[in-house]
Amino acid sequence: MEDMVRDNIGSLVYPLFIKKGIGVKEEIASMPGQYRFSADTLIDEAGFVYERGIDKLLLFEIADIKDEYGSSAYRQNSVIPYAVAELKKNFPDIIVMTDICLCAYTSHGHCGILKDCAQVSIDNEKTLDALSKMALLHAAAGADYVAPSAMAKQQVSAIRHALDNNGYRNTKIMGYSAKFSSQFYGPFRGAAKSAPRFGDRRGYQLSPDDSFTALKEVEEDIREGADIIMVKPALGYLDIIRQVRDRFPHTLAAYNVSGEYAMVKAGSALGYWDERKMVYEIIASIKRSGADLIITYHARDIVKWLFEKEAQYEKEILFTK
Ligand code: PBG
Repeated sequence: MEDMVRDNIGSLVYPLFIKKGIGVKEEIASMPGQYRFSADTLIDEAGFVYERGIDKLLLFEIADIKDEYGSSAYRQNSVIPYAVAELKKNFPDIIVMTDICLCAYTSHGHCGILKDCAQVSIDNEKTLDALSKMALLHAAAGADYVAPSAMAKQQVSAIRHALDNNGYRNTKIMGYSAKFSSQFYGPFRGAAKSAPRFGDRRGYQLSPDDSFTALKEVEEDIREGADIIMVKPALGYLDIIRQVRDRFPHTLAAYNVSGEYAMVKAGSALGYWDERKMVYEIIASIKRSGADLIITYHARDIVKWLFEKEAQYEKEILFTK
């Protein structure tokens, strides 16, 4: 099992939370072992995992300024573009992906701009415009992939057009293609302070019992130009990952989300299982279902464990010689 995990380090994508400031490294209460970093501490963290073989990061901002329009997501000199540029300066070969969504930046916590602030009716046109502006800023800073997760209609094609028309043909798109409305996002919303203030996301995320629409959404993202398609969450949706794998040849990512991570951590703290073996079993399950990439908060622990093992092994060899 360990060998299987080692062979698949290249499939791991490590998600990271970024906020404004210097020297920030705050642990996220709902996600033990995960932190909010500022751009400088992010570089240290990226270096730690990169030296151990992880070369793909997915960045989220924890925004402290929020308004109705989520405008801090797409103003100049914002946090994510700065962090992307710093990462690329220090590690030109790291593949940097950025989340494109408004929920961390809106005062109401919804993923798009609302038509009417008293109810959840997303203004799709305005939302696409905002998401496109955000994607352009990230692309200009050097992001390799932008990953729209707002679930606005036609978000992939709108962003593709914006990128192409502004000289960013090489910037790729990872679509959150089949994104289910899920309780498993709970700890993330705690981390990003992005839980909706009213209503819920059922209007723009998939119902857990609807595999038919999930497959349609994947097909739609491919048609709109997504380079990577994604199923999210992973563990309760391995059947969806498998069905997507069997139907489409595109690079497929599975998002092992915050709630899945938090359950493992909670059970480990209670002594219900061996955390390392549990994580390896989870990675094996997601791989078996057919995913090419696994976005997981466990990424850091995995490379840490593998390295410790190797160091120990080398020591043993030295002793027996
Ligand atoms: C934002 C977004 C969410 C996650 C990633 N991007 C959550 C949501 O819809 O509230 C969840 C990730 C996780 O739980 O790890 N649209």
